[in-house]
Amino acid sequence: MGDLGGRRRTYDGEPLEPARIDGDPIIQLRRWIDEAYDLLDDATEVTATALATADAHGRPSVRMVLLKGLDARGLTFFTNHDSRKGRDLHDNPHAALCLHWQRLHRQVRVSGPCEPVARDEAAAYFATRPVGSRLSAWASHQSAPIEDRAALERRMARARAEHPDDATIPLPPHWGGYRVRPDEVELWQGRPDRLHDRLVYRRDGDAWRIHRLQP
Ligand SMILES: Cc1cc2nc3c(=O)[nH]c(=O)nc-3n(C[C@H](O)[C@H](O)[C@H](O)COP(=O)(O)O)c2cc1C
Repeated sequence: MGDLGGRRRTYDGEPLEPARIDGDPIIQLRRWIDEAYDLLDDATEVTATALATADAHGRPSVRMVLLKGLDARGLTFFTNHDSRKGRDLHDNPHAALCLHWQRLHRQVRVSGPCEPVARDEAAAYFATRPVGSRLSAWASHQSAPIEDRAALERRMARARAEHPDDATIPLPPHWGGYRVRPDEVELWQGRPDRLHDRLVYRRDGDAWRIHRLQP
């Protein structure tokens, strides 16, 4: 491996100006996601998002999830409620998200309170998942240790045997969605000389205020 510190790239994105972005951060984020789909190749998981949580003692942990919903209520992802992140969110219902589109030199940070989505909403999303993903949601005690891969595959085979009909695989009680209701959203656009543009939306009652931050 070469010298990581010596590798440098120039960031030369379009300027980010308060007058050129939507006053609603959800609409603006939707715009950036649409642009990422238009401009990036099919291999890019445009909605891949780092999700940071912290436990009851404030110890942080971070992992990737896929964003599955974005509307006025917030940003939604799906997972196992008994996983490490699920336990963190039970004990400390706040989260931070970070999306990064490397080729566009763009980053978005979101933070705010996070709560489980309604069971009927989770069931509606679960029903759209491929059969294998629905069965593995039953088979996996996400984040718990298991002795080996073979034991995991036996659990998957058991889930298949218990739910032989693809059309009626129910939503597992331990699986569902969470929604982060943003109280802060930061857009970051890489610019030359590391003099990047950073605009942050902060809630002000029912409205949003936009502030520029130093890079
Ligand atoms: C690109 C990518 C997308 C992922 N999406 C999800 C997801 O939507 N939900 C999920 O539970 N895990 C997802 N994972 C796996 C998580 O990163 C993580 O391994 C898992 O949720 C367990 O995390 P935890 O032990 O902190 O709860 C994804 C991983 C990657 C690399």
